[in-house]
Amino acid sequence: MNQALDELNPAPRLLMGPGPINADPRVLRAMSAPLLGQFDPQFRAYMRQASDLYRGVFQTANRSTLVVDGTARSAIEAALVSLIEPGDRVLVPVFGRFGHLKVEIARRCGADVRAIETEWGSVFPNEVLEKEIKKHKPKLVAISHGDTSTTMAQPLADLGRLCREHDSLLYVDATATLGGMDLPVDAWQLDVVSAGLQKCLGGPSGAAPLTLNARAEQRIFRRRHTEQGLRASDAVDGEGPVIRSNYLDLAMIIDYWSDKALNHHTEATSMLYAARECARILLKEGLANAFARHARTSDALTAGLQAMGLALFGDQRHKMANVTGVFVPGGVDGEKVRQALLGYFGIEIGTSFGPLHGKIWRIGAMGYNARPDAVLVTLGALDAVLAGEGFKHSRGAAVDAALAVYRG
Ligand SMILES: Cc1ncc(COP(=O)(O)O)c(C=O)c1O
Repeated sequence: MNQALDELNPAPRLLMGPGPINADPRVLRAMSAPLLGQFDPQFRAYMRQASDLYRGVFQTANRSTLVVDGTARSAIEAALVSLIEPGDRVLVPVFGRFGHLKVEIARRCGADVRAIETEWGSVFPNEVLEKEIKKHKPKLVAISHGDTSTTMAQPLADLGRLCREHDSLLYVDATATLGGMDLPVDAWQLDVVSAGLQKCLGGPSGAAPLTLNARAEQRIFRRRHTEQGLRASDAVDGEGPVIRSNYLDLAMIIDYWSDKALNHHTEATSMLYAARECARILLKEGLANAFARHARTSDALTAGLQAMGLALFGDQRHKMANVTGVFVPGGVDGEKVRQALLGYFGIEIGTSFGPLHGKIWRIGAMGYNARPDAVLVTLGALDAVLAGEGFKHSRGAAVDAALAVYRG
């Protein structure tokens, strides 16, 4: 029998890795709503509502707030390819895999990249960032807020101001933190910020919210080159070099989202519904409540892991609220544990990359999964699987410790 002809029937899983996580059922329901044409007045209203909702999520008044069609990486690439002109100096502070990703994309954009690195598990002190900005005088600083590869979150409250003082633009990759940790875009003077749905926003991957302010718009619009087949007779191109991607050209994507409604790609209707629903659910809960829920989830999860005798990874003062790194204990095969969690309990936790490969697990509890039941079940399952692997620990202590946090 040809299995490809079988109906899709994925096993139920509890996704407790660094993302994707289980989508909120309301988001999946929104995705099954009937399709509309992209210029249907009702659909244009949904797009405008999505912009408004994401202004709330990003805590910004930025006019250019929209959703890029693609996974989080598409918005990173759209931001960088649209902002960076070949030869521009770009400073990338790297504290994990996703810093390296921005180095790689910036190089492909023809930037003169200055990468600085800190040990995985740490973040950059402000003084170091200031010194490097003064030294390199970059046109753009590109940095992650939370890097899921190390589970660390870079403090960003002062970086926007520093960049302005030195006439640099600041791009922040908030894929892993938006909706789970505070990131007030306007108050922190962040010029361009992007994210994805599949982490704290509680949706599937495939749509990437992005916001940019007037400083960034100025840089991008000087490179506006409208596609030949769509140009009005009076269209005037910007004086800057053409953006080296058509699909990810933010000048054209902004014109598509604006009231000009200038045709670009065919909007991914169902993903727009998903993105709109993610933001609606988050704002209905309230940002402060969502941040508190993620912080409490982190407290419960870390209390449980430590009660089991496991050691947490990285500088805990800078740990992301939504992903926790924990060392695989000596004598235990980390991959075997992950397989048993998946095979017996249907629970997925994350492995790790680069220098941390095989050394830590990454456990995510975010978005729809930042719930007591998800945390308690994961800890209980890990307790049982580790006992089966011969790891000596106090049985039941993990769930008790997490429960004590929830009971306050
Ligand atoms: C900080 C960060 N940036 C970018 C990405 C890439 O996102 P995507 O796989 O949706 O393109 C991830 C995914 O884990 C991430 O954590």
